[in-house]
Amino acid sequence: ADSAADAVAAFAGGEPVLIHDAADREGETDIVYPAGSVTPAAVARLRNDAGGLVCVALSDSVAAALELPFMQEVLDHPTAAAHDLAYDERSSFSLTVNHRDTFTGITDEDRSLTIRELAGLAADPDADVFAASFRSPGHVHLLRAAPELLADREGHTELGIALAAAADQPPAVVVCEMLDGETGGALSPADARAYAAEHGFPYVEGRSLVDALP
Ligand code: 5RP
Ligand code: CA
Ligand code: ZN
Ligand code: ZN
Repeated sequence: ADSAADAVAAFAGGEPVLIHDAADREGETDIVYPAGSVTPAAVARLRNDAGGLVCVALSDSVAAALELPFMQEVLDHPTAAAHDLAYDERSSFSLTVNHRDTFTGITDEDRSLTIRELAGLAADPDADVFAASFRSPGHVHLLRAAPELLADREGHTELGIALAAAADQPPAVVVCEMLDGETGGALSPADARAYAAEHGFPYVEGRSLVDALP
């Protein structure tokens, strides 16, 4: 695996990083981009090469400034009564959104616009601007990071936001799980590393970020 420093350097340059959380957690490798660097081609990579759910993680303070709740808190439905996960205490899901300048919201152009505009908002969060510029529900899943990041939770949500902080990027990152095109299961760490090497992207273990980042 590459070092945390390699991951920080790539992220600072707007390049994606592959992060495997832990074998005893999800056991998933996400492709993670600084949200401000996401182009239509990057969304196409996430669809074609990762294949999971395209999400934008925001820091707790940005989410608070935008008045973003956890999805579980706003769903008044029996399916949301008990939020029991096999691998963590809770999910980080918040609302889904589209930028208001999108059409359907799902195309590569539309999702990349939504994602880049979220990065701009994360650099200067304002709840009124958010409500005026975005509609919900939409086609990009928002995730809200834990307040103390890796001291609280070691999900891709917090790993990505901690990496953004270390790389002096705004606290908005895109994450998408890599799935195996044959089996449909999580892509194996060996295959994720091979993909990273082939494309010149760093591959890091969550543990090395937890140990290296504040
Ligand atoms: C949303 C998810 C992903 O696993 C994503 O990585 C965020 O979750 P977490 O912070 O729990 O790892 O489930 O697609
Ligand atoms: Ca998850
Ligand atoms: Zn994850
Ligand atoms: Zn997942």
